[in-house]
Amino acid sequence: MTVFSLVALPIILLSLIVRYQKEIRIWLWTLQKGKSHNGCTENPSDLKPYPAQPIPGRERYRVMMDIRKLDAQNWLTLDKNYMDEHRVRDALLREKRNQVLQCLPESVGACREALEEVSHFLCQRFPNTFETTMHEINPHIQNRMTGEKFNIGGAGRDENPTDALEAAVRLTMEDLSILMMNEDGEYYLAASASLFPTGWTVDQRIGWTISRLHEPVPLWHQQVANSVSKFLARLTPNSPMERSNYFIEVKRPDENLFDILYRPGSLCEKDLSNPSSEEIIIRRERQTFRRLPRTGAIVFGVKTFLTPLDELPMQEFENLAKEMETWPENVGEYKGKNVWGAKVKELYRSRKQNAEIKWGKRGDVTSQ
Ligand code: HEM
Repeated sequence: MTVFSLVALPIILLSLIVRYQKEIRIWLWTLQKGKSHNGCTENPSDLKPYPAQPIPGRERYRVMMDIRKLDAQNWLTLDKNYMDEHRVRDALLREKRNQVLQCLPESVGACREALEEVSHFLCQRFPNTFETTMHEINPHIQNRMTGEKFNIGGAGRDENPTDALEAAVRLTMEDLSILMMNEDGEYYLAASASLFPTGWTVDQRIGWTISRLHEPVPLWHQQVANSVSKFLARLTPNSPMERSNYFIEVKRPDENLFDILYRPGSLCEKDLSNPSSEEIIIRRERQTFRRLPRTGAIVFGVKTFLTPLDELPMQEFENLAKEMETWPENVGEYKGKNVWGAKVKELYRSRKQNAEIKWGKRGDVTSQ
């Protein structure tokens, strides 16, 4: 090696490092975050929603955990409804901030870690929509669809945990909550950005244990409480899980997307009995559970899907009609069956008849 190369090489290397320092920082940040996901390069406005779990049509009613391994590639999803829902999320975070966003002081580390995980996932999975950039020494995430930009690491961040969780739910289509363990070994709601709630608000229930949160749910404590506690305690960063839930929602004729998604009171007001078929919506949730590796808190994600009853496939309609017959009185009441049940039955019968006529199974429908 010549004297020239001994002097020149380090100088070239140093100037390359200075020239590409931002890129190197992003690369190091990505390396530190670990495993990547297959990138989806489609425009979100062309993406169909992640398929919601169909109504199973169980023969017997029981509160079920019904958890399965998380489809990790699709922990967080984007689809064609992103911008419409983002406008609702933005309005809620401005106009109903306290009702939809609360973080207890002890959740600050977990909220920040959740934002880092969310940002890393979205940049890897949707590289055309989200990008990591460096500002001075801090990585930021840039959302190309909304133009929003958030500081996701390092110094210069506000100490307030709500800022981190707000940034995370402005990026996602999912609502996000942080569960932490209390001194009695029970998980509780330490932070939550629940913008699309089903009959509750975060300011009423922040700090509640999982058990207390479910007090209004019939049979929850008898049938599932112990299994849920064990499941949450055993969750590891390498074993994320998911489950699904469905509700029936009845909207008023004049309600818009904001009113349909933000339901702090009830999903079906009692005075709305005898709704029209267009006013009945199958509201499904895909719930995900991930333990954060650094802080050990659990991130609970909820993606809400809306399917108008009129668009429900016949098999699922049949499954709904079957399941609602199996509900005990108090379960039916909890789910608002007295508001929409008769209408759903009537519509099911008429859809079934029409299908039978179409497929030529019956000669005379009027005799029924
Ligand atoms: C494996 C875990 C879980 C199971 C099995 C479960 C199960 C359920 C069930 C069956 C319902 C009633 C819905 C219906 O019948 O249509 C419900 C409602 C609810 N769940 Fe969970 N849940 C779980 C985790 C969570 C977590 C982590 C939260 C934290 C935010 C949560 C918050 C709620 C709330 C707020 C309600 C509504 C209660 C009300 O009517 O006031 N759940 N859950």
